[in-house]
Amino acid sequence: MTTKQWTVHPATSPLRGVIEVPGDKSIGHRALIFAAIADGTSTLTGLSQGEDNRATRNALEAMGVPIEELSPTSLRVHGVGLDGLSAPSAPLDCGNSGTTMRLLAGLLVGQRFDSVLCGDTSLSSRPMARVCKPLRARGGRIDGVFDAARNDEVAPLTIRARTQDLGLSELEYASPVASAQLKSAVLLSGLYASGSTLVTEPMMSRDHTERMLHAMGVPLQTLGPSVFLDPQGEDWDGRLRAIDQDIPSDPSSALFAIAAAAVVEGSRIAVRRVCINPTRTGALEVLRDMGFSVFHSPKGDSGGEPVADLVVNSKSGRLRSGARVGGELAVRAIDEIPALVAIASTVPFRSEFRDVRELRVKESDRIAAMVAVLKAFGCDVEEHPDGLSFTGQSLVGAHIDSRGDHRVAMSAVVMALVAKGPTVINDVGCVDTSFPGFAETLRQLGVSIEESVR
Ligand code: S3P
Repeated sequence: MTTKQWTVHPATSPLRGVIEVPGDKSIGHRALIFAAIADGTSTLTGLSQGEDNRATRNALEAMGVPIEELSPTSLRVHGVGLDGLSAPSAPLDCGNSGTTMRLLAGLLVGQRFDSVLCGDTSLSSRPMARVCKPLRARGGRIDGVFDAARNDEVAPLTIRARTQDLGLSELEYASPVASAQLKSAVLLSGLYASGSTLVTEPMMSRDHTERMLHAMGVPLQTLGPSVFLDPQGEDWDGRLRAIDQDIPSDPSSALFAIAAAAVVEGSRIAVRRVCINPTRTGALEVLRDMGFSVFHSPKGDSGGEPVADLVVNSKSGRLRSGARVGGELAVRAIDEIPALVAIASTVPFRSEFRDVRELRVKESDRIAAMVAVLKAFGCDVEEHPDGLSFTGQSLVGAHIDSRGDHRVAMSAVVMALVAKGPTVINDVGCVDTSFPGFAETLRQLGVSIEESVR
């Protein structure tokens, strides 16, 4: 099998420009799923063309949802209503996308047909008991495959039909992990339950599901890290109202462009229309605490999500510390840790990333992967069960294996910009899961990236 690799050259001039990055992946998954089970037609614009959102779209089409493509990033979804999905004729392939698999698990336990969810090798090794357990606790008939080495359930997930006698009951669930995928799966199953749902997390995770359901007329109540949904409540007629949505740009993708500008001296870039939902802005706060200047100019709301243009300047004499991540900040910056590690590796201060154990079960073990990347670039690093710590130093060009993880590959590109000598990054096709066009976007800012096939 051939794979793509990038050779990245150290930046020779400051990065400058105004860019756009793909639509937010988390919001895209939800917009597709909720539009599919809404009553009426929704037009979705600004949707990512990444493979992860595509996997969700394909699964919905396989269950009979008519979706028209107006342009590569605009779709018209003809909602089939809560009970209008039909049985897929084959297992639903979620590819590399954990959000697709976990959210669909919550949707599918409510359906009156059997289904199977499968994924690629990485997704098939990720923990699924965290979703299956609460769904089973309310009567959902879902089973993964027991993986003794991980002491967990993994994909494929087999889901059996909900019947008249075997329905979904009320559920009060205190999740051991802060996970928006888990919370969303439980809430989706709650739309089909005969009683209410109360889901509580140790810390509040991203709240796109709550915002979108609210905008579609579903009465939810949020109190700190708890969400309550009563589908039989008097203030709901049992339908999701179709809404048009313009999906803002993905702050997690934006952060890789921001990181590239942050590390190359004299740079200044602007990223347009980025989602600045406070459950996603932890990384921007970390950068400001380090002394980077990150400005945002608010651009109103889009589909219940706050949006802003972001302007970032490179590091300067004003930097005062390394990156400090832990506690609730870890939850609000979880997908940005690889990019923050890349930035921190270039500043001469101690950085500490703690309480990020969840990174071990992402598309790769991102703690181990980033430790390996730092070492390859010549940076001493300490690995902890729940994170990593190191002091930034001069980097040397390296050979990097992405481990098939888009965020590991993009972090290595950032570090390569300030390393001495060129860097080769293997297996970069994975970047297309979240940020197709990443290399072109950086080239637009003046970065030299050559692509070759091996
Ligand atoms: C996501 C939730 C987070 C995040 C992932 C997207 C979502 O995962 O890391 O990239 O869209 O709900 P967890 O729910 O596992 O924390």
